[in-house]
Amino acid sequence: MTAPERGVPGKFLEPCDTPPEQYKVEPFTIVIFGGSGDLSRRKLLPTLFHLFREDELSAGFSVLGFGRLQMNDEQYRAMMKEAVREFGEEQFDEALWNEFSKRVFFHSGHFEDDETYRGLGEKINALSLPADQGKRNVIYYMSVPPHVTPVAVEKLKQHELCRGKYNTKVIVEKPFGFDLASAKELNAILAGAFGENRIYRIDHYLGKETVQNIIFFRFSNPVFERLWNSNYIDNVQITVAEDIGIGERGTFYEQTGVVRDIVQNHIMQLIALVAMEPPIGFEADFIRDEKGKVFRTIAPLSDEYVDRFTVRGQYGPGTVKGVDVPGYRAEKGVSADSTAPTFFAGKFYITNWRWAGVPFYVRTGKRLARRVTEICIQFKQPPLRLFGRTCDVLEPNVLVLAIQPEEKISLRFGVKYPHVLNKIYPVNMVFGYQDTFKIQSHPAYERLLIDCMKGDLTLFVRQDGVEAIWEALDPLLARWESIRPRDFPNYPAGSWGPAEAGLLLQRDGRSWLTV
Ligand code: BG6
Repeated sequence: MTAPERGVPGKFLEPCDTPPEQYKVEPFTIVIFGGSGDLSRRKLLPTLFHLFREDELSAGFSVLGFGRLQMNDEQYRAMMKEAVREFGEEQFDEALWNEFSKRVFFHSGHFEDDETYRGLGEKINALSLPADQGKRNVIYYMSVPPHVTPVAVEKLKQHELCRGKYNTKVIVEKPFGFDLASAKELNAILAGAFGENRIYRIDHYLGKETVQNIIFFRFSNPVFERLWNSNYIDNVQITVAEDIGIGERGTFYEQTGVVRDIVQNHIMQLIALVAMEPPIGFEADFIRDEKGKVFRTIAPLSDEYVDRFTVRGQYGPGTVKGVDVPGYRAEKGVSADSTAPTFFAGKFYITNWRWAGVPFYVRTGKRLARRVTEICIQFKQPPLRLFGRTCDVLEPNVLVLAIQPEEKISLRFGVKYPHVLNKIYPVNMVFGYQDTFKIQSHPAYERLLIDCMKGDLTLFVRQDGVEAIWEALDPLLARWESIRPRDFPNYPAGSWGPAEAGLLLQRDGRSWLTV
């Protein structure tokens, strides 16, 4: 990593420091732990197949699914064919699949069994072509429950499948640990086997085009960046609302809950992108340094703070998009008196020079009124109301970064309403991705897999960041877990969550801008 050349016009803070063409995709084998699981079927195999179609995979690639199901290569190919047909982005192309599937294999075995790893090593050697300096490029993708990852990594290390004659990378799915202590333990195991710059902690939000755009938008438009601080911004609101329930993931969700599932990762990453200082260059570690500083300056969540400024919820039965749906406790794999939260709302403060005193209101939940992820930046009111009694209440300027399902940026400002005296009327100036570029955004996994193959860590999460986030959130989880919620379920499916989430802002004289 080299520091950017300071003082060279057009070079310092140049957002194209690492041109994509500098990367090259070499032959590799991707070993997917949990190769027949949900993520592999829904995302990984369809994405790899799509990349094959786009000619983004090197000629010498292979995909090796690894899991407990007893299956041979042919059976695995048949299973994945169905998955790609169902979840793939485009019309299924049989001839292309036949070509691709020649490079798809399966290895059956238990993740804790030594014999399995001996066999795995042999398969990797047989499948992967020696690349740079005669080494074999291997990507291990940990698409397994969190408690399996440390076991699998230890075994890979023990069987010398991490370094030496292999050039390896490991992709780890969230949650990265269960709390600070377990995250540290996991990080130590991963670092001991691979080294930090070979670890790709994946947060698929960072692969979304609209999320990546936050940093481009902020640091390429001085007109906004100059106002991006507590002098001009009144509050920031982040909503990550889902209308779906927990589906088939009851057992997982019972142990995870909303904070570990969404707040610890996706929401914290969004906060960091909105709040971070400009990095000293557009390189992975410079960006991750700045994000880490944000996590470390989140004001401590004392017990009293958690009680006053956070809200937890769990959905009961209700109606979503006109369909009656069961409550969380009636979902498969969920206990009838579960206390797992499916909703979070809270107020965070970032105690640094730029943000001191600006509340970051955050909410997320399952089975909410609609699917929407949005960041609203509300600006302060003008110092004086000039326009008389008709304008006693001015609508604030709001910048909305809409992440999904709509992909757009809008700015709300006031204009004079025609004819009527002294009336201000709020209007929106809108930039829409599809309207402007006439293309669909690439799915998040596509970008992230390519970046990993090419060795670009920018969109992946670094160990110190993960630990700093747990450090901030551990007290919240401890407080919630120490007091049994007595009002669960406390919001009907299809609503915007418990009433307290609205009161959280009302008490500050504000309201949620995403409705
Ligand atoms: C995952 C969570 O990380 O993100 C899921 O585990 C959630 O519970 C999903 O549904 C949401 O992703 P997206 O891209 O649909 O917002």
